[in-house]
Amino acid sequence: MVNADLLTAPPPAETPLPGVALDLRHISHEYRLKGEPLPVLDDVSLTAVPGEFVALLGPSGCGKSTLLRLVAGLEPPTAGELLVDDAPVTGPDPSRVVVFQDPTLYPWRTVWRNAALGLEARGLLRQQKHRVDEALAVVGLDGFASAFPHQLSGGMAQRAALARALVNEPRLLILDEPLGKLDSLTRIAMQGELVRLWQAKGFTTLLVTHDVEEALLLATRVVVFSPRPARIRAEIKVDLPYPRHRDDPKLVELRRDVLGLLGVGDATQ
Ligand SMILES: Nc1ncnc2c1ncn2[C@@H]1O[C@H](COP(=O)(O)OP(=O)(O)O)[C@@H](O)[C@H]1O
Ligand SMILES: [Mg+2]
Repeated sequence: MVNADLLTAPPPAETPLPGVALDLRHISHEYRLKGEPLPVLDDVSLTAVPGEFVALLGPSGCGKSTLLRLVAGLEPPTAGELLVDDAPVTGPDPSRVVVFQDPTLYPWRTVWRNAALGLEARGLLRQQKHRVDEALAVVGLDGFASAFPHQLSGGMAQRAALARALVNEPRLLILDEPLGKLDSLTRIAMQGELVRLWQAKGFTTLLVTHDVEEALLLATRVVVFSPRPARIRAEIKVDLPYPRHRDDPKLVELRRDVLGLLGVGDATQ
């Protein structure tokens, strides 16, 4: 029997693309420094289910950014297997987008044209201009489409970088300390925005942060690394509903545990 509703109903509203599944198997990586090997990652195995938000915490220089570069496909690991949706990562892909600490906007381009970069590079801009408008609206910059980067505050520039990432409809959003340089009030506001975006879009998220509280406020799971070469020291499931509150006693307790794992006493944070 034909369902008449199906024949006459308008097409469904664009549904967000699902996040990817990540499967890192025994990843090791080393650089060469003055001819000597520099081990950076040591047998890291990590998985994420579609739509999960995983935060990576570890001492400075332990290898966190390196791990993100490998997942983004910017370089291959020295050893181990890296699978996205069960397929090996062989290079960068528009479905996996990295946002760095420094927004790196082109100063000669407007906010709109900066956000449009990914579509332009793929020759899709003419048909899909609306995606740029939508991404700017999502990050609250629709009123600043024609502004230039020097006319933006730090938080707005970081939002523009986020819009540039979202235009590509990432299925994996890779964030390398994206809020690290923001003042604390802007940072708190952006943390809330990130959670809302992630909940609305459903992408899988990998976030590197040096802020224990930020990791616990945002992520469904926190992975703690050792000093270089990075090994996984612990994985902590953060089973708290959103929006989370930094003074939630459960979060405060987790923070103490994580600081202990990082070898840092209570006095520092
Ligand atoms: N391209 C490179 N060549 C050589 N050494 C590198 C390179 N990139 C990073 N390193 C070194 O690898 C180590 C880990 O760096 P990184 O992954 O950036 O750490 P993190 O992000 O945890 O601070 C550091 O000692 C850094 O100096
Ligand atoms: Mg780094």
